Amino acid sequence: MTKYHERKAAAEGNPADSEPASFLARSIARESLTISGLDDPADPVQRQQAAMLAGRLHRSLSTFPSYRRQEGAVRNTAATGGPWGWLPLFDDGCSRAGLMFLERGKSVPLHDHPGAVAITLVVTGKIEIIQCDADSEESKRDLTVRWEGRLKAGEATFLTVAAGNIHSFKAVEDCVVFDLFAISYPYEKRSWFIPETTLFSPGGNTQPRRPTPANAARQDYHHTPAN
Ligand SMILES: [Fe+2]
Repeated sequence: MTKYHERKAAAEGNPADSEPASFLARSIARESLTISGLDDPADPVQRQQAAMLAGRLHRSLSTFPSYRRQEGAVRNTAATGGPWGWLPLFDDGCSRAGLMFLERGKSVPLHDHPGAVAITLVVTGKIEIIQCDADSEESKRDLTVRWEGRLKAGEATFLTVAAGNIHSFKAVEDCVVFDLFAISYPYEKRSWFIPETTLFSPGGNTQPRRPTPANAARQDYHHTPAN
């Protein structure tokens, strides 16, 4: 971070408190109105609003030495934790945030975060994202693509309870992503939409297939790193 960005982050409200967690807690509360106005990730204007908001937080967080250390450390988590790495920054039961690392060419298959509202900001690298809606909360068998695209550093998308909540990632380049869950969700409610995958088998990493009514299937899976 340059001196300019440090000063800018400070001017934008970098806190006097010493911990990123307390800063995040206050920031999420402060930004809740803006976040609640996001309702369609297919809208480029709304994605830009999400990027501005999350980018502002990321720049402020980057003034904390502990955050910069975590940003570096998350790059090493994939080696032991599977195709992607995750470092939690903050979790108060209602909101949470963390950093995800995904190696070039690796994927996180389709999954959901039921009840969550979250922004995903690309910090470094490039990532491809597919976001889907389910036909019904009960079956979640028929999926419709809400938005798909490629994001580079500084760009963001978001999901809401009803829009684009089911999503997958593929890293075009090594990626670090800042995930901000303004409204969190219980991990045990998460589902993976895996027509057929070897992701959780030794050495496996299969790309998620584009969901269709014929091949989208819901599988509960409770033992993976969260993202
Ligand atoms: Fe996710």
